[in-house]
Amino acid sequence: MTIDLRSDTVTKPTAAMRAAMAAAEVGDDERDGDPTTRRLEERVAALLGKEDALFFPSGVMANQAAVWLHAPRATEVLADVDAHIVHSEIAGVAALSGAQILAVVPTGLVMSADDLRRSFRERSRYYPAPSLVCVENTHNGAGGKLTDLSELKAIRAVADEHGVPLHLDGARLWNASIATGISLAELAQPAETVMVAFSKGLGAPVGAALAGSRAAMERAWTARKLFGGAMRQSGILAAAALHGIEHHMSRLAEDHDNARLIARMLEGVGSASIVPPDTNILMIDITSNLRASAVVERAARQGVRVAEWSPTRIRIVTHLDVSTTDCRRAGEVLANILAAA
Ligand SMILES: Cc1ncc(COP(=O)(O)O)c(C=O)c1O
Repeated sequence: MTIDLRSDTVTKPTAAMRAAMAAAEVGDDERDGDPTTRRLEERVAALLGKEDALFFPSGVMANQAAVWLHAPRATEVLADVDAHIVHSEIAGVAALSGAQILAVVPTGLVMSADDLRRSFRERSRYYPAPSLVCVENTHNGAGGKLTDLSELKAIRAVADEHGVPLHLDGARLWNASIATGISLAELAQPAETVMVAFSKGLGAPVGAALAGSRAAMERAWTARKLFGGAMRQSGILAAAALHGIEHHMSRLAEDHDNARLIARMLEGVGSASIVPPDTNILMIDITSNLRASAVVERAARQGVRVAEWSPTRIRIVTHLDVSTTDCRRAGEVLANILAAA
């Protein structure tokens, strides 16, 4: 059997999740509300300590709706250069909201408050005005890295100095909360809007939510409709998300342990340089002439799938559908490949 560590999005709904989906009470969400979707939105709003939340078909759409809410045309959104919103959302900030990204190059692995402060432009009639700051926690491209609460608050303070709101891409905020023991609400508190995704560590087939003030969510409803994301009997999907929150959130600690296990197995191995994992994502830089694509191919031949992140970097993501035994096997296979290089 293949051990698939390319992403936590590869998880398949469990039998119990499918049963919850099949049993979901549904209505026409866009017309007059879907009861299970509403239950999910209320649950997410309560968990994140926000007034309201809205269910979206995807994290990308929820992120882009947040940008649409906060960033008027011809303004600038500041985000870490490696953020999902910068490199994996098809220039949505420009295409959908008519704003541009000012990419912040971090001095460490993720954008700090100091990095953000030095990136704001001077105010001038010749420059685009800033409209929004985006933070990604955990940070996918940096290797599932955490931004700690004091840094988040410092980032919020910098945004305040410039009078702009903060959006949190919390696709994996669940992992951040489990890894730090800090509640989702505390981690979400510095941000006006927060996106959380259900189709990653929580194991749902699809979906995300955007949370914020009631007024912001009223406008987010319009953005979701505009972007073609209004849904009908969405309770079938919301039931999967609710099941994921109830049954798969606390077990994320196992994924974090499994990522650390693979990291330990690869430490000091020939041509591997490890970014120590904070959560469920492990980045491995290859220091020899071996290409990442060759590692991916050799591992796949032995039943282990990993992702090529760049020509010299591979990404491993642990999740619900891989056990500790699977991860130990993956560590052995990769250690052999990387030691021989
Ligand atoms: C940090 C981050 N933000 C947003 C998304 C987008 O989520 P979705 O795949 O639900 O559109 C992802 C997906 O991998 C992600 O890793």
